[in-house]
Amino acid sequence: LDEALDLVAEVPDFPEPGVLFRDLTPLFGSAAGFAAVVDALGEAVGDGVDRLAAVEARGFVLAAAVGYARGLGVALVRKPGKLPSVAGRVDYALEYGTATLELPSGSVAAGERVAIVDDVLATGGTVAATAELIKGAGAEATGVAVVLELAALGGRARLAGLPVHALRTL
Ligand code: PRP
Ligand code: HPA
Repeated sequence: LDEALDLVAEVPDFPEPGVLFRDLTPLFGSAAGFAAVVDALGEAVGDGVDRLAAVEARGFVLAAAVGYARGLGVALVRKPGKLPSVAGRVDYALEYGTATLELPSGSVAAGERVAIVDDVLATGGTVAATAELIKGAGAEATGVAVVLELAALGGRARLAGLPVHALRTL
C-alpha cells in the first residue's frame, strides 16, 4: 500500500498559484497500485454498510471498484445539470471556488447506512455536502474512506462526528 501511495505526484501552483496539487494519475494508471488502494478502501469502509456514495469524477472510479469488491451498490452524486430527477441539491465551498452537488432520485433509500468514498479529503466541503444529501434522503452517513487526507486544509474538523479513514494523511 505504501508503494501505491508513493505514486501520487506533487504539482505546485495547480490549479492556481499557491496550491500544491496532489495528482493521483499515476496511481490510477497502475494496476497493482489501484488494486492495493481499492482493497484498503474496502476495509476502511467497515462493516454494517448498505451502500456507498461517491462524487464524480475520481470518486466514481474508486467507489465503483470498492462497491464491486464489497458487494455494495453506489449512489452516484453528480455535479449540477446532469440528472433528470434529483432527490436533493447542496451548494458548497471548495479549496478553490464553489460547487453544487445533486443526489439522483431513488439512489439512496431512507434508513440505509451509507459510506462515502473519495480520492482526496481537502477542505471537506465535498464530503460534508455528500453527507448532507444522504441525510436529506433519510439515510445515515456512516463515515468516509479516502485515499489522501490533506490535513492542513481542515477537512476532518469540518466533518465533526463523521468517522474519517484516510489511507495516508499529508
Ligand atoms: C476533488 C476531489 C474531492 C474534492 C476534495 O474533486 O476529488 O472530491 O475535490 O476537495 P474538498 O475536500 O475541498 O471538497 P474535484 O471537484 O476536483 O473533481 P474531479 O474528481 O472531477 O477532478
Ligand atoms: N488533489 C486532488 N484533488 C484535490 C486536491 C488535490 O490536491 N485538492 C482538492 N481536491
